Amino acid sequence: MIAGKSLYILGFLGAIANALPEPAVPQVTAPAKLEERATTCTFSGSNGASSASKSKTACSTIVLSAVAVPSGTTLDLTGLKDGTTVIFEGETTFGYKEWSGPLVSVSGTDITVKGASGATLNGDGSRWWDGKGSNGGKTKPKFFYAHKMFSSTISDIKIINSPVQVFSINGAKDLTLSGITIDNSDGDVEGGHNTDAFDVGSSSGITITGATVYNQDDCLAVNSGTDITFTGGLCSGGHGLSIGSVGGRSDNIVDNVHIENSVIKDSDNGVRIKTVYGATGSVNNVTYKGITLSGIAKYGIVLEQDYENGSPTGTPTDGVPITGLTLDGVTGTVKSSATNIYILCAKGACSNWTWKGVSVTGGKTSGSCSNIPSGASC
Ligand SMILES: *[C@@H]1O[C@H](CO)[C@@H](O)[C@H](O)[C@H]1NC(C)=O
Ligand SMILES: *[C@@H]1O[C@H](CO)[C@@H](O)[C@H](O)[C@H]1NC(C)=O
Repeated sequence: MIAGKSLYILGFLGAIANALPEPAVPQVTAPAKLEERATTCTFSGSNGASSASKSKTACSTIVLSAVAVPSGTTLDLTGLKDGTTVIFEGETTFGYKEWSGPLVSVSGTDITVKGASGATLNGDGSRWWDGKGSNGGKTKPKFFYAHKMFSSTISDIKIINSPVQVFSINGAKDLTLSGITIDNSDGDVEGGHNTDAFDVGSSSGITITGATVYNQDDCLAVNSGTDITFTGGLCSGGHGLSIGSVGGRSDNIVDNVHIENSVIKDSDNGVRIKTVYGATGSVNNVTYKGITLSGIAKYGIVLEQDYENGSPTGTPTDGVPITGLTLDGVTGTVKSSATNIYILCAKGACSNWTWKGVSVTGGKTSGSCSNIPSGASC
């Protein structure tokens, strides 16, 4: 239907252009009612992505049915009309190219993005995986930009084998992601790296609920933002539920983060806050409640103010204070080679912490914690 309408408009333009002396360019506006109609548009196959990108503002519901996105292109659903619904059906695939992506990008207000039953977005990441993630080797496309999404929801999306980072949530407000599954477990043996599930920056009112994540980096990483909630999640194989790294970006404020009722297993870390060495910013009012750990390989709880990409310096700095940190019911076990709890604060830079029901066992007790605020312990 859309294709027919476009042809009609093109033909009409051509007819006018032929009839007029040049250089006049006719201004033809689409029929006024077109945008107000409830229009379901279905796109599929190898032309589906470009057709959807072209026609997106004429559709109130966009169905992407087994779309094969060509290499080096974004399935571009930015600038959708208010109230648009996007439904993924079947398997969405992506061509191979070394580029930075994203493979999918969505923006708009009152947008609903959802996966139909059995739908998958398959990154086939092994084509890029070389164990180096975003630190080198092949340039790998990021997967899904949820930038500038307002009062919107993304639900029941299943992503398989992302080349590198999965969801980038930036400049968003009042966005809920529910029932998201990210299964990058093939990357455990095939070289997946930096496959962060949810990276949040400069956003407010973000709720991530019921996520299931198998990956090789942070399950959640909040670099900046306010009023961020993560509940009912399962994180496996990665680096834990993280705040940070905070510092050194354009926005370095983290405020009001609530992480509750989640399981972290077979991961490098459980609960993690990392602020950047020598940087400025703040981390305030962060709560971890009802977090269960098992099979943790490095640190059950790690709170450090000495972070640098690659390796921490070992010397904490006070430019990004961590205040109002509540740990309530953080329990479980780490591997015997791991450290139960590690706290590396600069003098006076960690305060007003409340810890209750914190019990991490099975590993070593750290001998190098520093400036532990009252209420907490290593
Ligand atoms: C702390 O953050 C929570 C949300 O996680 C919010 O409900 C609460 O009002 C915040 N507390 C203060 C003092 O701002
Ligand atoms: C301490 O942190 C809590 C949140 O955990 C907050 O409600 C309270 O206002 C903070 N107190 C001070 C003195 O900052």
